[in-house]
Order: sequence, then C-alpha cells, then structure tokens
Amino acid sequence: MRLELARSAGFCYGVRRAVELAELAADREKPCYMLGPVIHNDHVTAHLEEKGIVCLPDVRDIPPGAAVILRSHGEGRAVYDALAAKGCKTIDAACPNVTKIHRLVERAEESGRQPVIIGVPTHPEVVAIAGWCRSPVVLEDADALGGWLDECPERRSKALAFVSQTTSTQKIWDACREKVKKECTNAEIFDTICSATYVRQSEAQELAARCDAMIVIGDRKSSNTRRLAELCRALCPRVVAIEGAEELEPSSFQGMASIGITAGASTPGWIIKEVYDKMSDEIMEIEESFADLLEKSI
Ligand code: F3S
Repeated sequence: MRLELARSAGFCYGVRRAVELAELAADREKPCYMLGPVIHNDHVTAHLEEKGIVCLPDVRDIPPGAAVILRSHGEGRAVYDALAAKGCKTIDAACPNVTKIHRLVERAEESGRQPVIIGVPTHPEVVAIAGWCRSPVVLEDADALGGWLDECPERRSKALAFVSQTTSTQKIWDACREKVKKECTNAEIFDTICSATYVRQSEAQELAARCDAMIVIGDRKSSNTRRLAELCRALCPRVVAIEGAEELEPSSFQGMASIGITAGASTPGWIIKEVYDKMSDEIMEIEESFADLLEKSI
C-alpha cells in the first residue's frame, strides 16, 4: 500500500500568520480576547484558550479597553468601529489577501460600482467582505448570478465590480467570470481566489484522480476543507473526511494500493502527522502480516 501526502496539506500563509499573532498576543496581552475562533479549527481554538485567550463571539461582550484578536477571515467595518469606540487594542489577524478584498470592494463602491461577491453568503469571510459595502450583492455561483441578472436585465449594463471568496473553487469562479464577460458590458472583475487555495485544490484533485482512496483532514466547520472533500469525491471512489486521527479506521483501507492524504488550510501540522503516522503503522502491520503469510506458504 502506498501512502502519499499532498505537499500543500495544512496551514496556508494566512492561517499560520493568524495563529502566530494570536500566540504572541497571548504572551504579551493580559487579559486577551479573540472575537470568535481565530481560525476554523477546534483544536487550535482549545490550544489558544489554554494559553489564556478568551473566545467571545459577540463584539458587544468585549470589555472596554481590552486587547482583541480579529480572526483570519476578517471582519466588517462595523466591528472595527465598535472596537475603536470601546478603546480596544486590536490585533488584526485577518489574512492580508482578505483585507485586500475589503479595500477592493470599498474603493469600487466609492467609485460608483456595485460590488458583487461570489461566495457562500453565510461564510464569515463573505459576511466580512459584505461588511465593507453599503449595498453588497452576494451570489453563490453562476446559476445565482444568472438569476440575479435576469431579475433585472438593466443590471447587465450597470457598473459592477466582481470579487470572489478566497476559498471558492476555480470551477465556480470561471463559470461566473465567463458569464460576466459574455453578458455584462461595464463590469470589472477582480480575481481574488487565493493562490494557496488554488494550489491545494489542484494537488488534491491530481492525487484523488490516481489514488484508490483519499483522506481529507480538517474541521467540519472549515469551508475550504469541505470543498477539498467535494472536489476529491468527484474523482476518487472513496473519500474519508475526518477531523483527526481518532476518527480514522486504518483497517478499512485494506486491499487498496494507494491512499492520498490532504488537509484544509486550517489543519495544524501535528494533526496531519498523527493521521499519517497512524496510517503508516497500519501499512507496516499489513506488510508484516503479508510477509508472514508469504513465509508460511513457502
Ligand atoms: Fe489567506 Fe489564502 Fe489562507 S486567503 S487565509 S492565504 S487560503
């Protein structure tokens, strides 16, 4: 049995930066709060809480003057304003790629364009991007975009500015971009899918296409992990999505020749290592028992 780990599995640059900023803040700021989990991973949230950071999801509960870490998904303008009004010290762990989108939609709207965000409307990153616009439009995919354009055909000639959730799939974004190019006459398109996401998804697809099974590791709340599993399912007969090694049943992979492993951007390296080690141990056991069998049969 061959085990292959995707090179891009695990923390991306933005997530690593956010966790490092939070760890630094835990050492320097007492008391210290995080406004919701810094990244979508319960293990990491628990680790930061152990270091003394208190997780409060609502800005209204943050005490005046406190030090507050803002999560990697970013926050809308209202959150920054509310914290400034309370005299809080903000430690901004928003990924710079996400912050760039905030500035893009803000400037687009200031220059008279309608911001259109392609993404999952309830995802925190999308909610935060929308929070920098006075009248945002959020559409999930090309079908939703078609419906929005058909609802009011004049929208096709309106000044529009398109951005994407950083963790959207290239397929969804390409379909939207094609539609915009074909049908809209005054649209600016900003390609804001993160390159780390693109590389991770491409590698996962490449592995999934040639492996008998795929293991996708990541928190169930992590949208980029769920997307990875979805993409793999389209190409691989068996995809197992787990949050950590404790959910893994290595013996269920018996008889398979190749197994690929990948992980979402918010999955810590030590969880990936635990999964990899558990699978490697199982492979060694299978190989040893196979060698035994071979010896006996000789
Ligand atoms: Fe940032 Fe891309 Fe990661 S947007 S948080 S580097 S997936």
